[in-house]
Amino acid sequence: MNARLKFSDHIKLIKNIRTSGTITPSSNALINSLTSPIDFSKARCLVELGPGNGCITRSLLARMHADCVLISLEVNNDFVAQLNALNDPRLKVYNACASSIPTILEELGIERVDHVVSSLPLAIIEKDVVAAILENVSENLREGGHFMQYQYSLKNYDDVKPVFRNSRLRFTLRNMPPAFIYECTK
Ligand SMILES: C[S@@+](CC[C@H](N)C(=O)[O-])C[C@H]1O[C@@H](n2cnc3c(N)ncnc32)[C@H](O)[C@@H]1O
Repeated sequence: MNARLKFSDHIKLIKNIRTSGTITPSSNALINSLTSPIDFSKARCLVELGPGNGCITRSLLARMHADCVLISLEVNNDFVAQLNALNDPRLKVYNACASSIPTILEELGIERVDHVVSSLPLAIIEKDVVAAILENVSENLREGGHFMQYQYSLKNYDDVKPVFRNSRLRFTLRNMPPAFIYECTK
């Protein structure tokens, strides 16, 4: 598990199980596998959906180029406060639904995103919202950019596949619970 894992993060996830879809933050093994397609020397704009306690956010910030921006969209106020406390000028945190990516990019004057990393609990989000999120992700990704999503089941893999040019599945046992990674390329 992540070295900076705090008991209070578990409590926040449990209290908000209907929007978090989990009781424990991602392990380092899952984070490393999820983010492995990113070439950090080239990426200048990353988007993170559902950052929660920031375990993936911190890992991205640690490897990101000084000129790279990370835009994080999170619906939970407590997590938003925790993310803002990371106090990194490259990180732009929005207390917003993942479906609002186009509005936020327009506000920031950004046209294309290099990669999108998502830990959204797609399995418990309404179907039309999932469709809007996937469509917006694809619209705003650059050609060749990756959409990396972890899930505890294959339930939403069929939603993802038609939206991207190429999709493949990976799996890691080294997480609680073990997780599938949907790795998609535009
Ligand atoms: C499974 S937790 C992941 C937390 C952390 N990224 C991790 O991997 O441990 C999912 C997160 O997605 C957030 N979330 C759920 N629905 C969302 C939505 N529609 N837009 C943005 N964030 C959302 C939840 O509040 C929660 O923090």
